[in-house]
Amino acid sequence: NETIAQTIDRLGAVIPDYPQPGVVFRDLTPVFADGPALRGVVDALTAPFEGRFDYVVGVEARGFLLAAAAAYASGKGVITVRKPGKLPREVFAENYSLEYGEGTLELHRDDMPAGSRVLILDDVLATGGTLAAAARLLRKAGAEVAGFGVVLELGELGGRERLGDTPVEALVRY
Ligand code: PRP
Ligand code: HPA
Repeated sequence: NETIAQTIDRLGAVIPDYPQPGVVFRDLTPVFADGPALRGVVDALTAPFEGRFDYVVGVEARGFLLAAAAAYASGKGVITVRKPGKLPREVFAENYSLEYGEGTLELHRDDMPAGSRVLILDDVLATGGTLAAAARLLRKAGAEVAGFGVVLELGELGGRERLGDTPVEALVRY
């Protein structure tokens, strides 16, 4: 009867100086590889938003794992926010900066009806650049962002402040 936060803390790996010197990388692949832990994580991320979303959005790549599982468990559809050049039809695009680089994210313009309520999931909230860009994309498409869910929040990087007033559920904070 460990809490989900304790499970994540026990299974997560810490890698100093990856992917570059000075970054302490938290690796959640052992959490995803553990059946009960994966289920516990997905349930804990969706519970606070139950009845408040029509779609689950996953951010490439690790967000896809959580979003597909959460969408399936809640009987909703999944929407993908992707790295550039992966989506074949017309997209919205947003640039962002992150802890160790810069990027662009894209979303198909017509993935859901305007006014849809979306829950956006990812594995880690670091600087918040990724989730902020994802939210801008969804809002451009006319969606209402019901909330964000992440397994792990790296609190020192101030990501939460970049996400405004939209609720953020983080299962563990370091
Ligand atoms: C990581 C992580 C989040 C993001 C968090 O993804 O999975 O998406 O960085 O950082 P931020 O809050 O500073 O934006 P990454 O861009 O490394 O891509 P990947 O999932 O494809 O490995
Ligand atoms: N772990 C996993 N993903 C990340 C991290 C991290 O420490 N920082 C930014 N994205």
